[in-house]
Amino acid sequence: MNKLFVSLLLTMGVAGAASAADPIKGDAAAGQAKTAVCGACHNPDGNSLAPNFPKLAGQGERYLEKQLHDIKTGKRVVLEMTGMLEPFNDQDLADIASYFASQKGSVGAADPKLVERGRALFNGGDLSKGMPACTGCHSPDGAGIALAGFPHLSGQHAQYISKQLTDFREGNRTNDGDAMTMRSIASKLSNKDVEALASYIQGLH
Ligand code: HEC
Ligand code: HEC
Repeated sequence: MNKLFVSLLLTMGVAGAASAADPIKGDAAAGQAKTAVCGACHNPDGNSLAPNFPKLAGQGERYLEKQLHDIKTGKRVVLEMTGMLEPFNDQDLADIASYFASQKGSVGAADPKLVERGRALFNGGDLSKGMPACTGCHSPDGAGIALAGFPHLSGQHAQYISKQLTDFREGNRTNDGDAMTMRSIASKLSNKDVEALASYIQGLH
């Protein structure tokens, strides 16, 4: 994706609240020491083994930092993490984001039966429904655009991705900014589309 398109999206506020403030510089080594409590679910290196717990390893720093703030303030509801981020200040959250961003993310496998439909939707969107391709913001290999806060998706657990797309579609996840980018995209996805995209993303790298 070219720079002009990114800056256009940023002007539209697509990256959400994180774009408003200057990001705090995180320290990965300091962050690691603050993640003892996270490892039980996300694994110490952030490559969670359970399909309902998202992998954090290799995720963009800016996106991670925004999610941590959103979860801490309740803008994004994660019941499993209730109160857990309370002891951390803004610098701590930046350090934790920096630590997980510095880890190498693992990749899973796609279901061969779903791969074709998933790839077609991810790369081409669905013109008939006015749905854009995912690649414009999440890039063709799913790496995302870290500086813009567009999350890395490649290798993420299909079960987690599927829940996020459904949550955006049903309005249960609403922290995608005033532009409502992901809510409006997800509203155009059927259950079959969600299943195919989630499976494709799990094997993407
Ligand atoms: C008891 C299990 C549990 C623990 C412990 C836990 N988390 Fe989570 N975390 C979750 C679940 C479940 C989700 C996803 C919820 C959902 O489906 O939206 C999540 C989501 C996240 C996300 C959003 C990921 C994304 O891709 O958007 C971040 C970031 C995160 N956790 C960081 C942490 C950090 C940092 C800690 C330690 C301070 C921690 N978590 C501790 C269960 C846990
Ligand atoms: C115009 C840019 C844009 C397009 C196009 C786009 N996304 Fe996103 N997506 C975003 C942004 C920005 C976020 C992060 C929102 C936030 O801050 O919580 C996001 C978040 C997500 C998440 C949550 C990631 C996580 O770790 O929790 C998933 C899953 C996702 N997008 C999938 C898709 C899929 C599948 C498509 C194509 C059907 C798509 N996106 C198209 C910008 C986009």
